[in-house]
Amino acid sequence: MATYNIGLLPGDGTGPEVLEEGVKVARAAAEKFGFSFDATLFDFGGERYKKTGEILPDSAIDEFRKLDVLYLGAIGHPDVAPGILEKGILLRVRFELDQYINLRPVKLYPGVETPVKNKGPEDIDFVVVRENSAGLYTGVGGIQRQGTPYEVAMQTMVYTRNEVDRCLRYAFEYTRKRNKTNTLTLCGKTNVLTYVYGLWERAFHEMGAKEFPDIKRDYAHVDATTMWMVKNPEWFDVIVTGNMFGDIITDLGAMVQGGMGIAAGGNINPEGVSMFEPIGGSAPKYTGMNIINPLACIFAGQMMLEHLGENAAAAAIEQACVDFLNAGVIKGLAASDIKAAGMTTTGIGDWIANRVAEL
Ligand code: IPM
Ligand code: MN
Repeated sequence: MATYNIGLLPGDGTGPEVLEEGVKVARAAAEKFGFSFDATLFDFGGERYKKTGEILPDSAIDEFRKLDVLYLGAIGHPDVAPGILEKGILLRVRFELDQYINLRPVKLYPGVETPVKNKGPEDIDFVVVRENSAGLYTGVGGIQRQGTPYEVAMQTMVYTRNEVDRCLRYAFEYTRKRNKTNTLTLCGKTNVLTYVYGLWERAFHEMGAKEFPDIKRDYAHVDATTMWMVKNPEWFDVIVTGNMFGDIITDLGAMVQGGMGIAAGGNINPEGVSMFEPIGGSAPKYTGMNIINPLACIFAGQMMLEHLGENAAAAAIEQACVDFLNAGVIKGLAASDIKAAGMTTTGIGDWIANRVAEL
């Protein structure tokens, strides 16, 4: 029986509550499909930082390297200045473990409301592959003469051919494996960012023609991409893009698929240790109220199991979530909807875990 070493990072706010349910459901799936987890808890986040000043020690990164996978709740604390924990924990883990892919499925499930008029689950089902290790996020640049009228601030978008190629290769392979319409769309800005997205475009077509002739190649500028995501989301199968554009369009994607209550993502190092997370924040005002929606975290668990190669278990989680959504127990995904339905965070986790067991 396979046992996976899983690192749990509950983090801040409602992170621990949703992670608890994600783990509950993942364990139910493991039990049913004959594998198990050996879980290690890491309490990094705002509370620990406030108490000890420690954000994420090097020793923790060393521990992470020995794991099979990391499962995160949420990072972000109202008493800690924005950026400290996000950069010190989330981005640091991404960089140190070289999680160079951010995988973001945008899928509208039946029973979930989308703000996009006249579109349904058959129209909204695509995946964004965001480059997750470079570009504007590396902080190449600096600031001079700060606080004077002559202040100069620079932050430069840098991409090496290798960083672009490894992301593209993952995206092409993913598109092939997904086997939907076998179309990969490069999202760029070749009309203005001619150097960086010029490189992306050349690399895209070179690799596609040589190694992936079976995959159709498409291109859209980032501004047009946001337009099509709303107007004609059914046009997309897989979108690949750089770090900054990917950050922006995946939040739009989350809204298109019904909101932060359902959107999950994976920070993937195909050769190393990956980390899965619900992409919504820590929602501090709902902490401890047992009304935050755990679905996004449960879907992150599904992605995690898929990544570990436990495809049947992952499919069971997805099916159980679909059954839950179809059952109409909750009328929306917000905490207020859960409260209005007399439901709870733990209640939803129990429902889905039980369903996984009986599927
Ligand atoms: C995300 C988040 C992070 C990012 C923040 C919290 C640093 O928005 O995962 O998309 O910008 O990548
Ligand atoms: Mn983001």
